[in-house]
Amino acid sequence: MQQEYVSLQLFYEKMICRILLLIILTSCVSGSFVVNVTQTCYQAEENHNITLEWTFTTKPDRSTRSLSIICCLIARHEHFVLYRVIHGVELSKSQDKTFSGRVQSDKDALREGRIRLQLSRLRTDDSGQYLCEVNTDYRFSSARCRVSVSAQRGRERNREGEGE
Ligand SMILES: *[C@@H]1O[C@H](CO)[C@@H](O)[C@H](O)[C@H]1NC(C)=O
Ligand SMILES: *[C@@H]1O[C@H](CO)[C@@H](O)[C@H](O)[C@H]1NC(C)=O
Repeated sequence: MQQEYVSLQLFYEKMICRILLLIILTSCVSGSFVVNVTQTCYQAEENHNITLEWTFTTKPDRSTRSLSIICCLIARHEHFVLYRVIHGVELSKSQDKTFSGRVQSDKDALREGRIRLQLSRLRTDDSGQYLCEVNTDYRFSSARCRVSVSAQRGRERNREGEGE
């Protein structure tokens, strides 16, 4: 039963990612609640770490209990959840297994309206679009950035060597 519930949950969250992309592509977000990316594009090498960052509008009196977040990678026509917060609580079971143990969030930054996710031991498969949607007090907004991870130079050289 538990297993079934978890896979249903994962399916549901992949659907959210898909809908989220549609919303980003079709709407022009306006209003007082915004999500921004601090960098639109990241370049990194395999096995290195990067820290992705989004900022969102905060109010001093707002509790993190009202905060829900979903961040996903869209790559190879697939959706992978890397970070999920529901009512201020991080849900690690929502995370796709490709990211398990590789994403570290910064809880202090979150309170200040910054989503900081350190992604470690980068793989070339981590390349793609990263979207985060933030929901709070019935408002939502989202933003995305692009990450490209290149193969390690040593490995490239080896591959070239193999070809000779
Ligand atoms: C990458 O992050 C991991 C885990 O936080 C850390 O142990 C490691 O030293 C970092 N590596 C680099 C190259 O920064
Ligand atoms: C988002 O970006 C806009 C335009 O650069 C800026 O005016 C606004 O303060 C930013 N908001 C947040 C929460 O980062």
